[in-house]
Amino acid sequence: MRRILRLSWRLAAVTAFLLSGPVVAATRPTLTDQEVEQKVTALMARMTLQEKVGQLTQVGAFPGMDPEGTIRKGGAGSVLWLNEPEKFNALQRVAVEETRLKIPVLFALDVIHGYRTIFPVPLAMAASWDPAGYERAQAVAAREARAAGIHWTFAPMIDVARDARWGRIVEGAGEDPYLGAAMAAAQVRGLQGPYPGAPGRLIACAKHFAAYGAADGGRDYDPVYVSEGQLRNVFLPPFHAAVKAGVGSFMSAYMDLNDVPATANRFLLRDVLRGEWAFPGFVVSDAFGVANLVTQGFAADGPEAARRALEAGLGVDMASNTYGRHLAAEVESGRLPLSLVDEAVRPILAAKLRMGLFDAPFTDTSKLAEVLEAPAHREEAREAARRSLVLLRNEDRTLPLGKDLGSIAVVGPLADSRMDTEGSWMVFGHRPAAVTVLEGIRGRAGAGVKVTHAPGPEIRREIPSMFEEFIPELKKPAQPPEEAEAAFRQAVATARDAEVVVMVLGETAHMSGESASRASLDLPGRQQELLEEVVALGKPVVLVLLNGRPLGIEWAAEHVPAILEAWQPGTEGGHAVADALFGDVNPGGKLPVTFPRKAAHAPLYYARNLSHQPEGSERYRSRYWDGPTTPLYPFGYGLSYTTFAYSGLAVTPSAIAAGQAATVSVDVENTGAVAGDEVVQLYVHQRSGSDSRPRRELKGFRRVTLRPGEKKRIDLPLGPDELRYWSTARGAWVQEPAAFDVWVGGDSTAATRARLTVAR
Ligand code: NOJ
Repeated sequence: MRRILRLSWRLAAVTAFLLSGPVVAATRPTLTDQEVEQKVTALMARMTLQEKVGQLTQVGAFPGMDPEGTIRKGGAGSVLWLNEPEKFNALQRVAVEETRLKIPVLFALDVIHGYRTIFPVPLAMAASWDPAGYERAQAVAAREARAAGIHWTFAPMIDVARDARWGRIVEGAGEDPYLGAAMAAAQVRGLQGPYPGAPGRLIACAKHFAAYGAADGGRDYDPVYVSEGQLRNVFLPPFHAAVKAGVGSFMSAYMDLNDVPATANRFLLRDVLRGEWAFPGFVVSDAFGVANLVTQGFAADGPEAARRALEAGLGVDMASNTYGRHLAAEVESGRLPLSLVDEAVRPILAAKLRMGLFDAPFTDTSKLAEVLEAPAHREEAREAARRSLVLLRNEDRTLPLGKDLGSIAVVGPLADSRMDTEGSWMVFGHRPAAVTVLEGIRGRAGAGVKVTHAPGPEIRREIPSMFEEFIPELKKPAQPPEEAEAAFRQAVATARDAEVVVMVLGETAHMSGESASRASLDLPGRQQELLEEVVALGKPVVLVLLNGRPLGIEWAAEHVPAILEAWQPGTEGGHAVADALFGDVNPGGKLPVTFPRKAAHAPLYYARNLSHQPEGSERYRSRYWDGPTTPLYPFGYGLSYTTFAYSGLAVTPSAIAAGQAATVSVDVENTGAVAGDEVVQLYVHQRSGSDSRPRRELKGFRRVTLRPGEKKRIDLPLGPDELRYWSTARGAWVQEPAAFDVWVGGDSTAATRARLTVAR
């Protein structure tokens, strides 16, 4: 009954969401492309050089910066780091009433995984393997942010990341270009809607272009060295997918790519982005990126930095005002052609026109509270969090928890932390409001179950995050050792008194994200020690992980009976985790990233090339002599409360000519006693060719729901898009005549194999 009630409420909420407000957008833009171009040309004809440079300048709303004065002078086309709806309109009034040409400004903010209703962090969203769900999530984020007056978000972050030490791995879709591309396109569709400028949507920004995730040693901002082959086969596909999905803007990355800063990288910004991909939008630097060209030892001074960034194809200078200070003089002196400034300004004006800002520059915030508190948004967030859960271990059916439990201890520093349940990027005045795991368990367990809680010792970074500056709660002094010891003892005692212990451990929100790389992947602080003492009590223990990166949980993987990877699950996280712990929901997420055993193994990813001692062969030996180097959990891995069986794999036709497509079909059957979701994954390996190819590469997937005993045949296409690659030997995209191994299964170690032959 309860379930039916919940279901019908959910249906009503979703219907209300679909019927209400601007998300149901008109299906066509108000201006045609031609009209936009004409209006831009007419406006440009009236603009001075300084006014044009103003459009290329993004001003910050941080202490020491003066957005209002800058806008009044016509010196800024967009504003970032402001999150106060009333101020948006006040600043916009300055732009459209006090400047000569009355050009509205764009308000930009990092709306990464939700505005008020916070969704799971991007790595978690990728673990859902559900692009349609990601699209809906970003539509909610856009709707809330647009209602508050924001026009442009610095999302999606689509950097492929293979090094678990790198803090920003939390912000992307993990290690795989194929999954990454699907998630990138879905996010662009969700954020931008059916066309650029759709009501209730935002301008999206594909970042950080490109290969930021390959920082040497996983150290944020450090240089990146990747071959053109790796760039094109691994790091660029999500960006290309974003362009194909119509993304309005790009952000360049901070670091040097093969010795050329991405901010002034002509190969990336002109040759690939504009040339090969015909990207019509605009590119913004990362914060202070243009000024950084001097710091990075690339440009001699500000004028040279401004000139070389613009020449390379960088449109907007975020926050450094290097363009504002120097571009006009560079043009006037003849060092920089005016045509390059014009080329950069046009897409920005076009975006403002498409967003309708010339006609309706202000935001009506009278309905803001209604939008932000929409129950349907919370329901989407809860569903997204449920679908992102990955069950890593479940010995002796420890989960779901039994129905006749008398008491549960919920232990750990993250069990009742709103901020750490929401995860990274919750800055700019955001107040954490998540349902914690403790609250979720309390709400679901029922009156007859005693739920106790002890946080144990606090955990904190050894070197504080730059974001902690903006978050008052984090500015408190460290817990003294004697208090930490008392908290440790209290936690063990609380666990001892309960029938079942749920340990909520992992990383705080600011232990991953920007400037949050780590040299270790261990559970921070005394969490490991606490886990070991609690497990030694001999009771059923469930480890719920809240974290933004793979963690080195080798001990837990052997000794803790059940492990649920909950990531940083957002506003509804505690509810979603409780849903899974009590069996209302069957976890069906899969890892979008390999879990190495320890940090020393990073970067570890499944799509490596073969060696002369291939893994799985007789000759294979661990790559290090001091222990296995195989993953703790492979890419694509995740358990369920039920089991699935694969059969009948067929590739039809099994021989094709280059340019043709085959279909890979397989039967998947729920062989257990409860309904569940399986993510059917297709991997291929090209057995020979111009280059050596990875031992396996993901080339298709589908998440399916199956009732007990239900069997479905799944078809996945395998054609030129999936079979081509950038060949280093030939310096070109190729699709070659070759034999391909094809595997289908529930993770990247899938054993069910078939063969496809591609003839000339
Ligand atoms: C720096 C970050 O690298 C980028 O992701 C973000 O969008 C900008 N700052 C703006 O906040």
